[in-house]
Amino acid sequence: MAVPRSLIGQTMQLFSSLSGERPRLFFAPGRANLLGAHVDYNGGLVMPVALSKGTCAAFAARAGGLLRLRSSNFPDQPVDVPLAELRPGRTQGWSAYVEGALWCSQRAWGPFPGLDVAVCADLPMAKGLSSSASIEAVAVYAAAHLLGRAPDPDEMIRHAHEAENVYVGVRCGILDQAAIILARENSLLYLDCLELTREHLPLDGARVRIGIIDSGVQRNLATSAFNQRVAECTRALAIIQEQVPGITCLRDVHRSTYEALQDLLPPVLQRRVQHVIGETERTQAGAAALRRGDLAAFGQLVSRTHLSLKELYEVSTPELDALALAAQAVPGCYGARLTGAGFGGCVVALVQPGACDDFGRRVPAAYKEATGRETEVMWFTPAGGPSEVAI
Ligand code: GLA
Repeated sequence: MAVPRSLIGQTMQLFSSLSGERPRLFFAPGRANLLGAHVDYNGGLVMPVALSKGTCAAFAARAGGLLRLRSSNFPDQPVDVPLAELRPGRTQGWSAYVEGALWCSQRAWGPFPGLDVAVCADLPMAKGLSSSASIEAVAVYAAAHLLGRAPDPDEMIRHAHEAENVYVGVRCGILDQAAIILARENSLLYLDCLELTREHLPLDGARVRIGIIDSGVQRNLATSAFNQRVAECTRALAIIQEQVPGITCLRDVHRSTYEALQDLLPPVLQRRVQHVIGETERTQAGAAALRRGDLAAFGQLVSRTHLSLKELYEVSTPELDALALAAQAVPGCYGARLTGAGFGGCVVALVQPGACDDFGRRVPAAYKEATGRETEVMWFTPAGGPSEVAI
């Protein structure tokens, strides 16, 4: 995928306000998960696709041990910090994602002399499109290249994930970082978050467009109920393990096992486990549908995931429900669901290319009628993973 010239220009301009050095430029996409919602931290199966927008970052080494970070999204919050002072919990600000990635990379691959970094994104932030994992991925990828490493994808995923878990402090699974680092153009990643086995399934941009529609309701992952959902799953697993000690994660709980044990779980935990079981089944059915090129069947599963997120996992909002319904109702839309953790943010829809114009008119109109809110559709194609950008 060609990184837009405007994004490159903006990144280079921001960098030039920081340093006269010639930087190296890197890009990483965002992602939308299509099936396998909230199962990565339950050892489950996920199906994300990388989006053709993301984060561009310019990096140059400097002497003196200082890390200087600038972001076009936070022009009034420059960060200058000695690299030796990076540690988890140091900041809750925007720079935590870059700092975390560099902290992990340095520990694995050795120290930088100092670094100047300018970050620009054309991906909306805090909307469930993984703008944070996109920053982590671009920083780890850049660090590997700057330190002369041949970057092994699994190692990069580990560092980007540790940045989020340890440095930023969000207990997310591996989905976002893996989705971005392993992405291939015109395909969807089918990842087993337990075994880390993976397959790239066809999702051809000529046959399907990815529409992202913003509900306009802001979410904030770190302060949301995300960690609470993780804790609920941990509790449910502990109760099930007392009866079936061999089970190591909720993904291992088959429907028949659950039905035999469900009365031991409080109702809220029953709903969480039912969601995870349903997602595992839907993801397997979705892989079969994509292998036979059946986008209609795949899309129906995506829409059923939304219903499960609404009713069983309880991470939707009235606005996301209205938007998903409006999208699903347009002829040529294969399916739609909320993307990311939920609690606000965006809906992702799979749409036939010929139906995009109609979709772009009808969904905002229906959403306005249902909620009084304005929105528009952003269009993407299935993108590849991180890359160095020639300048
Ligand atoms: C967030 C987390 C991911 C994943 C999704 C829900 O994006 O960062 O690890 O749990 O929510 O599927």
